[in-house]
Amino acid sequence: MKWGLGLIGTHQGANGFIEATIMDLKERIDSKKLPRHIAMIMDGNGRWAKQHNKPRVFGHRNGVKAVREVTEAAAELGIEYLTLYAFSTENWSRPKREVDALMRLLVDTLNKEVATLNKNKIKLRAIGNLELLPTKTHRALLEGMDATKDNDRMTLILALNYSGKWDIKQATQQLIQKAISGEITSDEINEEMVANHLSTASLPDPELMIRTSGEHRLSNYLLWQLAYAELYFTPVFWPDFRKNHLYQAIVDFQSRERRFGKISEQIA
Ligand code: FPP
Repeated sequence: MKWGLGLIGTHQGANGFIEATIMDLKERIDSKKLPRHIAMIMDGNGRWAKQHNKPRVFGHRNGVKAVREVTEAAAELGIEYLTLYAFSTENWSRPKREVDALMRLLVDTLNKEVATLNKNKIKLRAIGNLELLPTKTHRALLEGMDATKDNDRMTLILALNYSGKWDIKQATQQLIQKAISGEITSDEINEEMVANHLSTASLPDPELMIRTSGEHRLSNYLLWQLAYAELYFTPVFWPDFRKNHLYQAIVDFQSRERRFGKISEQIA
């Protein structure tokens, strides 16, 4: 909770401190310069559980609270798209007990949260090789997406059985099929066409990527789509991530100069 607050911690007093600081942070956000799309790597659940002398799944369960809070905060701010890395292709190699527990947690959370998503007009989407998810998880996901498909305030995208290399591979396969069938020629393939065959086809690229837990890696996440994203790393473990941490990341994002290969003078 204390991390990052020192920068703006001008308020004293035991009870008022955190509330006032959260408001300060929120007020420092320029609503006209919000990232349209934020991508997050929710890391540190296992280490958080260990700190609390609990099994790893306790960390994942508490991670759901952070998911809820961050989704609410992002929607309140007016973020259009929020993508969460909920299960990577590589996560299958974890102990079966943990994988099973995560899949059950996803089903429970999806079933419980659909009503809240609808209340808040949030659309659920998913990216990844979804057909290879366990039947119950896949079904809960499809039901959740169908039940929220008409919502238009924010889109929450869960990356499930996702990896950036898989995404680029499946886009390549689609393009090769189209070339073989004569629908396109290889000369016609440009970056826009590749982007339109990724699982994120209709989404703008994330401008901000946040990873928790102090790790500084992309871990095979949205490799194409993050080409120009601002990367933000925080030592906070995911189950402890709260609205103020999101606000802090956005304030930091807004202080950066995004040059896209140009020089400062060309941006001004
Ligand atoms: C990484 O922490 C976290 C995951 C692999 C799973 C994330 C899942 C949730 C937060 C719960 C469900 C999510 C939704 C969207 C309902 P880690 O286990 O790698 O932590 P460690 O690096 O400390 O071991």
